[in-house]
Amino acid sequence: MRKKFITWTDNYIIDKGLIDEQHLKLIDLINNLHAAFLEGKANDHLNEIVVELTDYTVYHFKTEEDIFCKTEYDRKEEHKEQHKLFVEKIKEFKNMLASKEASLSFEIMTFLQKWLQSHILISDKEYKDFIRIVDL
Ligand SMILES: [Fe+2]
Ligand SMILES: [Fe+2]
Repeated sequence: MRKKFITWTDNYIIDKGLIDEQHLKLIDLINNLHAAFLEGKANDHLNEIVVELTDYTVYHFKTEEDIFCKTEYDRKEEHKEQHKLFVEKIKEFKNMLASKEASLSFEIMTFLQKWLQSHILISDKEYKDFIRIVDL
């Protein structure tokens, strides 16, 4: 079996709960997209995964913002701005793929991989200390 495009490790742990579950789901979606891309799946199939990834990303960011906005986390606005820029970018990809202006590329795949990894490991970890963690 091929090595996963993004591999979950304990470094990604934020709350041992809802946030981690959502991050795992995002990682799964990106891994599925990458596998389908390498297998040369039809554009319609890739588009379906990109649509799901886009919708789930928006949903996840909302969950996360609702959680950290209730805390003393001091970089809320910067964090929300990062989410906003990523959503704009992924929607741009989604529209490009849907209109067949472009197809999925290694550059797009690498962008998604690097963005998610560094966002969780750097930005999401910032609010980790501000949320109340039960049973950690
Ligand atoms: Fe996150
Ligand atoms: Fe985030």
